[in-house]
Amino acid sequence: MSNRIAVVPGSFDPPTLGHLDIIRRAAGLYDELHVLVVHNPDKEGMLPLALRLRLLEQSIADAELPGKIVVGSWSVGLLVDYAEEVGAGVLVKGIRAQQDVSYETPMAVVNNHLAGVETVFLLADPANSVVSSSLVRQVAGLGGDVSPYVPGAVARYLDQSTPSDF
Ligand code: PNS
Repeated sequence: MSNRIAVVPGSFDPPTLGHLDIIRRAAGLYDELHVLVVHNPDKEGMLPLALRLRLLEQSIADAELPGKIVVGSWSVGLLVDYAEEVGAGVLVKGIRAQQDVSYETPMAVVNNHLAGVETVFLLADPANSVVSSSLVRQVAGLGGDVSPYVPGAVARYLDQSTPSDF
């Protein structure tokens, strides 16, 4: 496993500007970055997996981020199984506030125990400190404007959709 290859995992339901900022900064730190849409069986979700992937790919392409970035999905087995499969020694997570540290810490410790994978936390830009997928889902579901919080491709998709499409 290489410390030059990293995975940015998440639900990305939908991708936000906070996600994109973490992806951009991680892409500058590692030789190869895997942005991975992980299917979480505990979360029903708003957007189907294939759509999250498409919106993520489009958002990354539009942002013209440098470096090697692979977008993928993972719905079988542990996240560290994917990391091992692609040779990644690092997981990258964004931290907005103390609650994120509390949520992420057990996963980071367990992932390290399971496979020796390290988790690197990047502090979110304060501009994105209130941005979350759940907030975007709520505002979009009630017909509000989410364009300040999401990449253009996501805003365009959500704008054309009605809540019953989600
Ligand atoms: O965007 P999210 O919903 O905060 O992402 C959470 C995610 C997908 C990163 C998290 O649920 C996860 O790591 N799932 C993988 C399942 C796994 O490997 N669990 C065991 C070790 S924690």
